[in-house]
Amino acid sequence: MTYDDTGGGGQAVVLLHGFPFDRSMWRGQAEALGAEFRVVAPDLRGLGEATSDSVGVTIEAMADDVRALLDELGIGRAVIGGLSMGGYVAFEFFRQFPERVRALVLADTRPQADTEEGRRARAENAQRALKEGMAPIVDSMLPKLLSAETRERGGEVPGRVRAMMLGTRPEGAAAALRAMASRRDQTDLLSSIDVPTLIVVGSEDVITPPADAEAMRAKIESSRLVVVEGAGHLSNVEQAEQFNRALVEFLRGLSA
Ligand code: MLT
Repeated sequence: MTYDDTGGGGQAVVLLHGFPFDRSMWRGQAEALGAEFRVVAPDLRGLGEATSDSVGVTIEAMADDVRALLDELGIGRAVIGGLSMGGYVAFEFFRQFPERVRALVLADTRPQADTEEGRRARAENAQRALKEGMAPIVDSMLPKLLSAETRERGGEVPGRVRAMMLGTRPEGAAAALRAMASRRDQTDLLSSIDVPTLIVVGSEDVITPPADAEAMRAKIESSRLVVVEGAGHLSNVEQAEQFNRALVEFLRGLSA
């Protein structure tokens, strides 16, 4: 597994990226947390610089990869955070290894499995990525990923997100699409989550909208919800300051 392991010697925080991104999407968080916390950000199977082949990619396998990485790094319990697909992996990690979870951060994600229509679209996109490369996927996803405010503001964010998506290997993207399509429904897990949980969502997220986040908050007793104003689906990249403030406050609260 390729990963970044940065920051201080405090509580370890593992940050799991979304699709079709890589560990670099957490750069802003690694910088903001580094003085107080240890931040571990891996590339998930088949994505980023992960060189593992794209066979056997499932959300369960991704969760087990994270467990193996924690073992390798000598980290017993960590805060497990994930955005979107990373959140699917975080749910699965909690299901399989609850004793390794100090707290959860669920950003712009949802517990439900895909609908039949969603699965069909994933299969089509996987085929398309393999045949035509990432460009058509990027063109269709990008307008839905970022808020109008982020797109109008310009600056480095839209270009950075685009480059990250275009840098994804089509084989890895296709494998991740299939993994997401076959992921289990985690709705039944919510009421058993008994660790402190921070739920974060962009106010303009149209992929996993604030209503999904509110529904999770209602079912996870130990959770709190923060809405990141002006952000779409990539709340940590689009409004890093707001996201970091919420995250740092949450993490400090764990040791208070
Ligand atoms: C992501 O950001 O990881 C994806 O939008 C998740 C998904 O397609 O379900």
